[in-house]
Amino acid sequence: MFKKNNFYNLIFLVILASAFSLAHAAENISAKEIYQNNCAACHGSIGKPDPDNPMFNELGLLPANFTDPLFSSREPSKDWFLVVKEGGAAKGFSKIMPAFKEILSDLQIKKVISYIKTLAGDHGYPSGDMNFVLPIRTKKAFPEDEVVWKLRFQDNINNKNRNQVRNVLEIEKRIFKNTQLSLELSHSIDDGIDNGHGNFDQIEPGIKQVIYENVSQQFIASVGTLLAIKTEERAASDEVIPYIAVAKRLTKTLTMQGTARSTLPLDKFSEGNVELSSVVHWSPSLWPRSFKPGLELVASFPIDRGAGSSRKSFAQLSLIPQTQIGLNKRGHIMLNLGAEIPLNDTERYDYRGYAYLIWDFADGGLFDGW
Ligand code: HEC
Repeated sequence: MFKKNNFYNLIFLVILASAFSLAHAAENISAKEIYQNNCAACHGSIGKPDPDNPMFNELGLLPANFTDPLFSSREPSKDWFLVVKEGGAAKGFSKIMPAFKEILSDLQIKKVISYIKTLAGDHGYPSGDMNFVLPIRTKKAFPEDEVVWKLRFQDNINNKNRNQVRNVLEIEKRIFKNTQLSLELSHSIDDGIDNGHGNFDQIEPGIKQVIYENVSQQFIASVGTLLAIKTEERAASDEVIPYIAVAKRLTKTLTMQGTARSTLPLDKFSEGNVELSSVVHWSPSLWPRSFKPGLELVASFPIDRGAGSSRKSFAQLSLIPQTQIGLNKRGHIMLNLGAEIPLNDTERYDYRGYAYLIWDFADGGLFDGW
């Protein structure tokens, strides 16, 4: 009698034997043939594993279904490249998903991935290849399924009243194909107010809609609106924050994202501002447990600059060097660190520190994939 382990080792050996002879014989074998020879035994000949097939029951786990458009669209091709080349275990998936690095060339792996990406048909979901690193300030254009805990502290040596620690919990959930709802809950401890006692001071619901996507040019654009509802008694006015977010891949390893947004206090628009921000990230490694450094520039234009000695500059500029650090093997738990340095109007603060903990919950639970 076979144990399960032996069973899938056997399937794999058979695949290995036939694949070796076929794949190595012809580097230019078609993507469909690569798939049928190497993958179909487990993933099904049309990309959909059949739960009634006794073989899948032996595997004890249903292999990924490539005909599911939501699943297929949201996974970046480079993530799949790593799974196919290095095997499921390398990315915190099941080791039943074999490594193909000895069997297929990088080019063949890329071909077969392009092929399995077609198995979900024409679906209208945005491509996961447009899902870039979460910036510190710039808004993301891609609609996410994500929970982010954001910590920000602001330090001002000359004016302790401006020191602040802010904690924000953000939940983002995709609905339909191209829309995302979000909700932020904020808690602040201001040294200048309430003697440093903390307050839950803001609830911020939001909606975002992808308006344009061009996969061949690697470009995506979205519009969105946030509503910042102040929940404290001494609170300032509620604010409405409309924005446009764009993202473009520049090269294999460099991406650029930008946002134009306006923060408008509902009782006095003139106290609001218009903010432009842009960030470039460098992702040198395919491995999830790696650093993705970036540099972000923020320019905030006050609508009313005020008068006298406290008159604000035309544009308040700041720079945010930052990095993302992938924490687990699967890459869906990440830590972003950043520091914001004001370039002018420096009495605002000396620096701000940021730490974001991100959980991309579409890719698994908090404890999966370590
Ligand atoms: C021996 C069976 C087997 C073979 C052969 C196999 N796979 Fe898999 N594959 C699996 C299983 C099982 C999973 C699910 C792993 C999990 O969810 O932990 C999987 C998962 C995947 C994933 C999904 C990773 C994700 O993001 O969820 C991709 C992509 C994939 N396989 C591609 C391929 C390709 C391409 C081939 C052929 C070159 C192939 N597989 C051959 C069993 C197999």
